[in-house]
Amino acid sequence: MAFEEILSRAAKLEAAIASGPIVPAVTPPEIRRHLAARYDFTKPLALDDVVADVERMLRMWQVQVTHPRYLGLFNPSVTPASIVADTLVAMYNPQLATWRTSPAANEIERHTLGWLAGKFGLPAHAIASFTSGGAEANLSAVVVALTRAFPDYGEHGLRGIAASPVMYVTSEAHHSFSKIAHMTGLGRRAISTVATDRDLKMDLGDLARRVAEDRRDGLAPFMVVGTAGTTGAGAIDPLPELARFCRAEDLWFHVDAAWGGAAIVSPRLRGHLAGIDAADSITCDAHKWFSVPMAAGMFFCRHPDAVGRAFRVETSYMPGKTAGTTVDPYTTSVQWSRRFIGLKLFLALAERGESGYVEMIEHQAYIGDMLRESLRRAGWRIVNASPLPVVCFTRDGLETARFLAALYQRQIAWMSEVRLADGPPVMRACITSYRTTEADIDRVVSEMARLDAFELR
Ligand SMILES: Cc1ncc(COP(=O)(O)O)c(C=O)c1O
Repeated sequence: MAFEEILSRAAKLEAAIASGPIVPAVTPPEIRRHLAARYDFTKPLALDDVVADVERMLRMWQVQVTHPRYLGLFNPSVTPASIVADTLVAMYNPQLATWRTSPAANEIERHTLGWLAGKFGLPAHAIASFTSGGAEANLSAVVVALTRAFPDYGEHGLRGIAASPVMYVTSEAHHSFSKIAHMTGLGRRAISTVATDRDLKMDLGDLARRVAEDRRDGLAPFMVVGTAGTTGAGAIDPLPELARFCRAEDLWFHVDAAWGGAAIVSPRLRGHLAGIDAADSITCDAHKWFSVPMAAGMFFCRHPDAVGRAFRVETSYMPGKTAGTTVDPYTTSVQWSRRFIGLKLFLALAERGESGYVEMIEHQAYIGDMLRESLRRAGWRIVNASPLPVVCFTRDGLETARFLAALYQRQIAWMSEVRLADGPPVMRACITSYRTTEADIDRVVSEMARLDAFELR
């Protein structure tokens, strides 16, 4: 069976990766020379040889995001079932534009999204779709929110709106919203950046002041984005209060839970997402904390009518609409031809079960807590407050860029630097692999202490 070979390769990689390097030292000319010397595409090559060469390149020339000491940017270690899923999808190549072309794939996605929508507490009539990632899901949210708030937006664009629309985010929200404001024609200045409190959560008083002031100035507030697990610091905006405010002010409430959303399956963590059930729309990425390969985002919305209006289209060349309760994804989402994204989450969930996911997610949260404590004991100052496994830390006089370069060079770990609320750069470490162990954290923290004490002061 072909999948045995895939699983055995995945298992081999899993066994080998922890003892190999995490960060490559390679220059663009080195890779370009290699490619130019071997691949001018004039003669056919044996597939096995090319695959072996490509695998070598991937092993040598990338940051190994599935390494247990990759403490990075939400890129997960991936479950073997999800690797098999992506291969199976490539083999059958289902077309997810319409229901009629791929009934099985459509229903598998619907079933999987329905499960998660239920966890979020969304109503049964909510609509959801798989996306390429969080940025596309956030784009979907803004387009649907505009469509609902401004009935002329769809036909006449922003020209048809008398007052300038405004959306509210904090400086800690994901920067995909800047690109979205640009792409939708809102313009980047349509984003109002709300102040944060000392824990980097949205300041409700400042939000209320801004909305009132904008209305007085003749602008048209239409949307508030609460983040559940900010990219930099894992902060969770006050979702219940935001939900209440948005309802009272008739504003669209979007929750960007691209990473943190997976916490909804954990009995221990889901309380931190209270209020998400009142969202008008939610972004949650399977390719982050659900540990499946890129690209797998999800967009959930409680207003199927608005989604239908935003993405409606009629053609003579697409297969006819099916009657009944099915939808054709090309009329309810951004993409047209679309890969069967949902299988990787379906297969991984089916194989591990919900309890397996609870275990993976709570393990990572536990390792995050352990990292936070170990760093504190080692004399680092923790500068973020998050119940999720992202830890930002520093000490007086730290030169983050120099410290990171040393970490990479000695293959201790991959972590990043971040500026929180426009402060100075600090270190950021996030547990993104369900395979990271206590021993990995002990090793990283003690090697960092050695580096700090003897080499970099
Ligand atoms: C909070 C948040 N939202 C959105 C995104 C964008 O997601 P993607 O990279 O999947 O497009 C990210 C990426 O890290 C994120 O952290």
